[in-house]
Amino acid sequence: MSTAALKVRPTTEDDITAEVLRRFDNTQDPRLKQIMQSLVKHVHAFLKDVQLSEAEWWKGIEFLTATGHMCDDKRQEFILLSDTLGISMVTDLMTNRKPTGATESTVFGPFHRDGAPAKEYGADIVSKDRHGMTCYVHGRVLDLGGQPIANAELDVWQAAADGLYDVQDTSLETMNMRGKFHTKADGSYLVKTTRPVAYQIPSDGPVGKMLAATNRHPWRPAHVHFVVSAPGYSKVTTHVFDSVDQWLDGDAVFGVKNSLIAEFNVHQSNDDDAKKFSATAPFCTCEFDFILAPSK
Ligand code: BEZ
Ligand code: FE
Repeated sequence: MSTAALKVRPTTEDDITAEVLRRFDNTQDPRLKQIMQSLVKHVHAFLKDVQLSEAEWWKGIEFLTATGHMCDDKRQEFILLSDTLGISMVTDLMTNRKPTGATESTVFGPFHRDGAPAKEYGADIVSKDRHGMTCYVHGRVLDLGGQPIANAELDVWQAAADGLYDVQDTSLETMNMRGKFHTKADGSYLVKTTRPVAYQIPSDGPVGKMLAATNRHPWRPAHVHFVVSAPGYSKVTTHVFDSVDQWLDGDAVFGVKNSLIAEFNVHQSNDDDAKKFSATAPFCTCEFDFILAPSK
């Protein structure tokens, strides 16, 4: 027998795990080392826990490959995978803890676009084919002491009344249902839009197949997206959810927080709010204040 054959080499599953962990011992960046070694530890534990077969791992590789192939500037299947596995919300919770009273964050999602058009106070974000009930979302951006924050930016985006974002519907011009608003001196903002509707997250790709195979539904409760920011304050990426939505308790991406649920009130007559917003009944209103914490 040669001396090479006499050397002690990893032979069991646990030997391999230990050897892989050792290979990361010399990582210079301590955080990268921690992440890589913990990843290996947990993934190997998972493999052994479910006794994953080679054929099953091939399916996993095919799934991840298909997920990558479904990503471009308009479709981000990996974000969708992260969202539907709850990874986005767990990392959001750990990263964006806010002091009591500050507006909580929630999932960013795959449908934000850079470069939304600047909009005046009260401007309409519906740039094409208004369907659905006109809705005025308004309120103030305040600091933790209740003082108004002037010139705060609200980057707003929303699905249209048919439940599709502009990037999902090629018949719509892009930047439909999007806009960047700024608060007035008293911290107030006003967005004209349509009442948000519940919609299904894209299900025509590998994530949709995963949901179907595991008997999970793809619905998200009705919401409007906001990123609210101002110099000196911690930016918040969040949603305002409709309080009467039937999917609040089963959001496909786990994004609902109690503090983000608001009432969307329907107005059937040309009442005081109709005058205030220059609206014609029927329309709906939703009041929601954003509270920003100081930046860290
Ligand atoms: C969204 O709200 O736009 C969204 C979030 C997560 C997955 C899919 C869509
Ligand atoms: Fe959304």
